[in-house]
Amino acid sequence: MPKTEIAAGFEIVRREDFSAVTYLLAVRHPMMARAARPGQFVIVMSHAEGERIPLTIADFDADEGTITLVVQAVGKTTKEMQQTCQVGTHLYAMVGPMGVPTHLGDTRKVLCVGGGLGVAPVYPQARGFKQKGATVIGILGFRTAELVFWEDRFRAVCDDVILCTDDGSAGMKGFVSDGVERAIAAHPDIDEVVAIGPLIMMKSCAEATRPHRIHTTVSLNPIMVDGTGMCGGCRVKLGDVVKFACVDGPDFDGHLVDFEDLMIRLRRYANEEKVATERWTETCRMRALLAAAS
Ligand SMILES: Cc1cc2nc3c(=O)[nH]c(=O)nc-3n(C[C@H](O)[C@H](O)[C@H](O)COP(=O)(O)OP(=O)(O)OC[C@H]3O[C@@H](n4cnc5c(N)ncnc54)[C@H](O)[C@@H]3O)c2cc1C
Ligand code: FES
Repeated sequence: MPKTEIAAGFEIVRREDFSAVTYLLAVRHPMMARAARPGQFVIVMSHAEGERIPLTIADFDADEGTITLVVQAVGKTTKEMQQTCQVGTHLYAMVGPMGVPTHLGDTRKVLCVGGGLGVAPVYPQARGFKQKGATVIGILGFRTAELVFWEDRFRAVCDDVILCTDDGSAGMKGFVSDGVERAIAAHPDIDEVVAIGPLIMMKSCAEATRPHRIHTTVSLNPIMVDGTGMCGGCRVKLGDVVKFACVDGPDFDGHLVDFEDLMIRLRRYANEEKVATERWTETCRMRALLAAAS
């Protein structure tokens, strides 16, 4: 029996490739573009049989009616999307905005720290703090100069930007936590730090700010399934308290987060993820062989 095709969905109107594994998709969704706030995320299905994956809203433009996502191809679904999500194609589903928006409050001076892919989701927060009248210092960290993206966007909304690369090929040589130390030394009146990136990076930023007692917000990325607080998959520990990142977060106080527990939880399905990626890669290889033979 032929499959029923659902034509509609959410059109991809722009795509940029930042590196061999990182790509940007701007998706038309006027209603969500009006509703989105910094710190929120969406759950996406790229096709009808696809996996539901959470992705942070890296930008939203109510005038253009678009939501911007920046994706790193790490496994089956994100690699498949890297191949199939081209301008003019459609995402089958995009649900959101989800999660509690970042509290922009009455912060006077804030450090917005992004590590690697985390640079994208921290951007709307930097812009939001600026719009609220705060002094904003951006710290952007990448492994090497070739991976740098959105430095210009940050310079447009920040009072100062510190660029760090692990190998020193652009900006200062060092990790973003070194940049945090430098910024705190230069600006002892910083009253908030927001850090987004790999867990180890957010942990080291929280450790860098702890002795200075600067409130530090991190954005957590546990495995999510339903995104509604029902399945418990996205459980995170803050001391003795258990929270669900999809409905209570994804922003949490970095000085309370049990990062070790989260790292263990994120590795829980490593074997299944490896098998799924290998199967998909093999299917792609067979398709390419069949196409070449026909
Ligand atoms: C709130 C939130 C925001 C996120 N924002 C972004 C973003 O803006 N850009 C981006 O590239 N990635 C983001 N992620 C991570 C992204 O969801 C995973 O990389 C993606 O689901 C991996 O799927 P895969 O099939 O490609 O890889 P897999 O091989 O299935 O998994 C690779 C790794 O991704 C993680 N992962 C797998 N499935 C899920 C899931 N259902 N939910 C969460 N993590 C999962 C696991 O740590 C796993 O080790 C976010 C995650 C969360 C929870
Ligand atoms: S994803 Fe199911 S409770 Fe959060």
